[in-house]
Amino acid sequence: MSVRIAVAGTGNIARIHVEALRELGDRVTVVAGVDIDEARAREFCAAHGIPRAGADLPAVLAATRPDLVHVCTPPGAHLDAARAALAAGAHVLVEKPPTLTLREFDELAAAGPVATVFQHRFGGGVRRLRTAAFGRPLVAQCDTSWFRPQEYFDVPWRGNWHTEGGGPTMGHGIHQMDLLLAVLGEWTEVRAVARRQARRVATEDLSLALVEFANGAVASVVNSVLSPREESRLRFDFEWATVELTHLYGYGDDNWRVTPAPGHEAAVKAEWTGPDGPSGHRAQFAAVLDALEAGEPLPVTAAEARRTLSLVAAVYASAFTGRPVRPADVGPGSPFYDRMQGSGPPWEAP
Ligand SMILES: NC(=O)c1ccc[n+]([C@@H]2O[C@H](COP(=O)([O-])OP(=O)(O)OC[C@H]3O[C@@H](n4cnc5c(N)ncnc54)[C@H](O)[C@@H]3O)[C@@H](O)[C@H]2O)c1
Repeated sequence: MSVRIAVAGTGNIARIHVEALRELGDRVTVVAGVDIDEARAREFCAAHGIPRAGADLPAVLAATRPDLVHVCTPPGAHLDAARAALAAGAHVLVEKPPTLTLREFDELAAAGPVATVFQHRFGGGVRRLRTAAFGRPLVAQCDTSWFRPQEYFDVPWRGNWHTEGGGPTMGHGIHQMDLLLAVLGEWTEVRAVARRQARRVATEDLSLALVEFANGAVASVVNSVLSPREESRLRFDFEWATVELTHLYGYGDDNWRVTPAPGHEAAVKAEWTGPDGPSGHRAQFAAVLDALEAGEPLPVTAAEARRTLSLVAAVYASAFTGRPVRPADVGPGSPFYDRMQGSGPPWEAP
């Protein structure tokens, strides 16, 4: 049976979605494309051979009865689109960041089961690493050092809290931080600095954080859009091996390097086996279909996506209050629960 999919929001990332879905062959059929800009929806559907285009999401869902809705709108519109999809009886997969705030995320999760796109979790290397026994994780480094020139921010919705929910911590580094958490699990405390260092934006253009984990590991995190030599990098030092991932916007098997500690060569080699293949939307969509067929929660689940969003909130909370922040500090009642910038960055102070 082919899973019937509708795409809400037919902009840039929607194209990546339908191209990745096409690679999954007859496991899926894209039945509709919806955009508040109806002309854009029509053009998109014509280009990709999708039978139904429209601007009214509930009406299109009622007419086409999809099994699954991919929400590819800007983040501020994810909650309403997900609600419409759930009301129509469909499963929901929303693009990252799932919402602009933790409050909105909790409303989303309360509306029904919603999965989030964090496509880098689904490459072979991360799947191997999550099951490999390399001893205790001791220290990790998580860097998103990217470059976005000033012109990139000239689009009105970029660089603003109310449209993007933040700068590189929320919009760019969230992928690498999500991988860090996929491997190391619950974070317990964050100390962070955020700066508006070089770009004319309302948000930060740089953040650095020290993150402590329930399993005892400690990680440093850099999120930058100021770095002319761009790189995405994760490094984990376990008791018996160093595992490094160096890439930019997605990785393959060649982007990994595993270095055993002396005396652990054979054991580490034996552990570093299992799935292979690149990260990307196609890999996640295949995992979503597997879960749908097995009647399991779709990945990435709300609990895991919330943990990543709460780390983003904690980086802002620590940077803007100058204090260490624990998960409860960004829960209901905190200004950082209602808005990622909470009480506001120091550069907004009168
Ligand atoms: N996973 C990734 O690596 C990745 C990469 C880029 C973007 N994204 C995410 O994808 C989402 C979309 O980004 P984009 O770059 O495609 O943006 P975009 O501006 O190119 O496309 C968004 C589309 O949504 C439409 N839209 C806006 N509000 C809508 C609504 N209420 N209902 C229906 N359509 C609506 C817009 O008209 C536009 O066509 C964002 O959440 C972004 O963060 C994820």
